[in-house]
Amino acid sequence: MISDNTIPMKPVRKEVMHFLAKDMDNIVGTYLKDIDNNWQPSDLLPVSSSDNFIADIRALQQECRELPYDYMVVLIGDIITEEALPSYESWLMDMEGVEKSDTGGWSKWMRLWTAEENRHGDLLNKYVYLSGRVNMRQMEISTQYLIADGFDTGAARDPYQNFVYTSFQELATNISHRRTATLAKQYGNGQLSKICGVIAADELRHAKAYKSFVSSIFEIDPSEMMIAFAAMMRKKVIMPAQFLRQQGEKIGAAFTHFSDAAQRLNVYTSTDYTDITESLVKDWNIASITGLTDPAEKARDYLMGLPARFRKISDRGGFKAPLAYEFNWITR
Ligand SMILES: [Fe+2]
Ligand SMILES: [Fe+2]
Repeated sequence: MISDNTIPMKPVRKEVMHFLAKDMDNIVGTYLKDIDNNWQPSDLLPVSSSDNFIADIRALQQECRELPYDYMVVLIGDIITEEALPSYESWLMDMEGVEKSDTGGWSKWMRLWTAEENRHGDLLNKYVYLSGRVNMRQMEISTQYLIADGFDTGAARDPYQNFVYTSFQELATNISHRRTATLAKQYGNGQLSKICGVIAADELRHAKAYKSFVSSIFEIDPSEMMIAFAAMMRKKVIMPAQFLRQQGEKIGAAFTHFSDAAQRLNVYTSTDYTDITESLVKDWNIASITGLTDPAEKARDYLMGLPARFRKISDRGGFKAPLAYEFNWITR
């Protein structure tokens, strides 16, 4: 909630960001968990110092034996996406209005958010290492490539567009981890279901945070925020794994196959893309924001029509049959 009356008359992004950052302690307290009491990867994994360790691993491997090929592809693609966190942090740290040296401002949010996110890749990586089904070296090569190949939201240094991007992506990762949790349960793997579930809960909390940042910007700078939202949606919200590749491949060569597997399993589909867009239009009250400039009114019209347009296109999409493509991440 913006209660201070020091809002700049003609807000520019940097000033708006600095203004919002005054509330950083409250933001962090509301949306992030205290480190000492937060869950850690080891809470959800076999304890290597325990006498039961070997038996626990055998049970874990037994639970992983029946996970289907497409499911393994999606799980590993999700892990690699989570493991490329350094790319996302460095991208967001470079936004206008984020001062690296300012320990209380947006850099504080970025560091604490990164610290929470870092647990996701850690946990899943260790889990699949123990599963006995993954070629870890190949997964690690893909991870190193994804980080090395970089990341580009298309939003450049614009915090408004980047916060639309992060709102969207946190919702997308919430959906995909939630669905991998549900599927794991159906395949008889309760532990993996729990793991994906706790990660999904983090993503939802993060989505609420990023959505609240955009809501606050709408209060201060509605026209520019509206134009930025439309600009981000016009470019399409790319997936963070868009450059995914396996050893010996060109940049991005594995991405379509990973995303087709997610579509086949209904873990993340083009319908989800539309649903997320629609939910953001609704949650940010796009229809009822007042006092907009003409270009912002045009942007609003575009945004209001988007869900229906996407739905028409995705209805024509249909089922993606498996192509002759082999993932070297999966051993059996
Ligand atoms: Fe994550
Ligand atoms: Fe996230």
